[in-house]
Amino acid sequence: MKKWMKILLSTLAGLVLLLLLGAAYVNYSPVPTYKLATPTIEVPTDSASIARGEHLTALSCALCHRGKSGQAMEGGPWREKDLGDLYVANLTNHPNSTLSQYSDEELALLLRTGVKRNGEVALVMPRYAQMSDADLGSIIAFLRSDAPMTAPSDKQWPEREINYLAKLLTKIAIKPLPYSENVDNPVPDDKVEQGKYLAQNLACYHCHSADFATLNEADPEQSEGYFGGGNLILKKDGSKKIPSSNLTPHPEYGLGRYDLAGFGQAVRYGKSLNGKDLDHSMPRFTNLSDQEVEALWAYLQTLPVIENQIAAAE
Ligand code: HEC
Ligand code: HEC
Repeated sequence: MKKWMKILLSTLAGLVLLLLLGAAYVNYSPVPTYKLATPTIEVPTDSASIARGEHLTALSCALCHRGKSGQAMEGGPWREKDLGDLYVANLTNHPNSTLSQYSDEELALLLRTGVKRNGEVALVMPRYAQMSDADLGSIIAFLRSDAPMTAPSDKQWPEREINYLAKLLTKIAIKPLPYSENVDNPVPDDKVEQGKYLAQNLACYHCHSADFATLNEADPEQSEGYFGGGNLILKKDGSKKIPSSNLTPHPEYGLGRYDLAGFGQAVRYGKSLNGKDLDHSMPRFTNLSDQEVEALWAYLQTLPVIENQIAAAE
């Protein structure tokens, strides 16, 4: 063999070895863990705050954490398998539930930064960095209270088993968000501010921007294609992924086709303009109040139009 060929071959062999070692490192080394400072969080005890917490929980946590068997948020296997096998936690008030293992401070930390009590970053679950201190406290207060959604269930789920892609992402891309301190409620009489608050904290923008991978959860409006739709969401029956809708005020491709009443029907009950049901991957936000629907509508009208034509789902 010629000398240069030997050198080339051994260089190639060296590169392949490095790649294999790199892949083995990603696969077998532990997932990174983070130790963040313990925040202080005030958890209210008055009934108005607990009711507020119930309202928000039904519009957010419950959409994923409600179990198969009905009301209670007993969790279960997460339906999307892109990142491996994840389990949505049991958030009921059973002494063995995941919720019961969490202190109020650990919950606040998880909800705002994504860091679980074992120090790993939770996958898939939205981070509530824009949620006010008052609302965060209300959700925690509600979770600890006695209600059908929190009724004790002893369901326990296995540890998550994440795949190679997820392991790689936790090492290079998915990092905790900084803990946002002292977040105020939006100004009460400002419809647009109220709507923005809901659109960000109910995770509308997570699904309705370009891609989960390019979201900016610290500063949502900086997300790629903010509210321009096209993010691929697994259909509720699991058969395939469909693009989310463009919710900017585009006259043909976006909310310009809707009026407030039609928008309310779509968001609360999943009715589309042609009278067909939207796929159930679009959650039904049934308990939004009229004011909340108006606020969401008002905010979405203020967004810059994005020219993104979404093919209608069959
Ligand atoms: C889009 C779906 C979704 C929503 C909405 C959601 N979660 Fe989760 N949650 C998950 C998934 C998936 C996991 C498992 C994540 C993992 O193990 O990587 C999880 C895990 C958890 C855990 C357990 C973390 C651990 O230590 O294992 C808690 C506690 C939790 N969620 C609380 C909440 C609360 C409170 C809300 C509402 C404010 C909420 N979640 C909203 C999907 C969701
Ligand atoms: C889990 C992902 C997800 C979340 C969260 C979500 N959506 Fe959707 N939404 C979708 C998908 C997917 C569609 C398209 C459904 C179809 O084509 O059948 C859709 C459709 C819609 C439509 C119909 C638009 C049209 O062009 O007909 C409206 C309106 C809408 N969503 C508003 C909202 C609002 C407001 C929020 C927050 C309160 C929200 N969505 C949260 C996934 C989501």
